[in-house]
Amino acid sequence: MQLYVFGADEVYRRLIDRALGAGSEALVLTTDGPVFGNRDWDKRRYVGPAQLSLRSRLSALRCPSWLLRMAREGAPRLENLLEFAPPHARDLVSMARWSQGAMRADLDWRWFAQLRREWPRKLLIKGVLKAVDVERARDAGADGVVLSNHGGRQLDGAIAPIEILADARRRVGPDFTILVDSGFRRGTDVVKALCLGADAVLLGRAALYGLAAGGEAGAGRALAIMRAEIDRTIGLLGARNLAELTPEMIVR
Ligand SMILES: Cc1cc2nc3c(=O)[nH]c(=O)nc-3n(C[C@H](O)[C@H](O)[C@H](O)COP(=O)(O)O)c2cc1C
Repeated sequence: MQLYVFGADEVYRRLIDRALGAGSEALVLTTDGPVFGNRDWDKRRYVGPAQLSLRSRLSALRCPSWLLRMAREGAPRLENLLEFAPPHARDLVSMARWSQGAMRADLDWRWFAQLRREWPRKLLIKGVLKAVDVERARDAGADGVVLSNHGGRQLDGAIAPIEILADARRRVGPDFTILVDSGFRRGTDVVKALCLGADAVLLGRAALYGLAAGGEAGAGRALAIMRAEIDRTIGLLGARNLAELTPEMIVR
């Protein structure tokens, strides 16, 4: 379960209660969202709140089966936030805008300690971009971190998380969970991160593009391509499995 913290305390408490009830094993607290990035591409797509530009509308016309489905079933909504959204923010875009506007800017290590006391299962911090903060997360009781620059969607010029991976791993040793994401498009990218000490790589758009192009089957195809590329790369490195990947396989 991924948690954005917005609105009153009651909102996140209700969300994590539901996550517990639904059997979520881990909570991922996203920490790089309180200030919304300058998303020029969004500005080009919309002329006003929830109002698509003419160009985007024309572009949608090229996807008649998608349009038909939207007309039949309606656009998806952020279902788990519906109970908190004000009456004027019930559609996807308005809800996203509303929740971004209500994002809490007071998250700090003290706040994290409070969440740690309230969430009894695995707790990860997502959005870490400094190796020293990985140590700090461990010392604050986190079970792991996601090194991430939010897919480059927040701060232009933020470093790529893979840059700090080896240092982060050195600092915390082999047992602390380090996941990484942002910009992983090929199996070779993934294997590089595994060599440098990531326990796993999270994929955002690599799978999302498959989903957009071909629905569930498209996402499955994208993941199958990724898996084949990973397998091939491991073999080309002379390793028999993931455990045999080492930092020495990467030379800068
Ligand atoms: C359309 C879109 C929506 C996203 N929404 C969230 C979100 O609600 N919470 C979050 O923690 N990260 C969100 N992210 C960031 C992803 O979790 C992830 O960090 C990022 O996509 C990884 O980079 P990649 O897409 O290059 O793999 C979103 C990313 C995209 C592309």
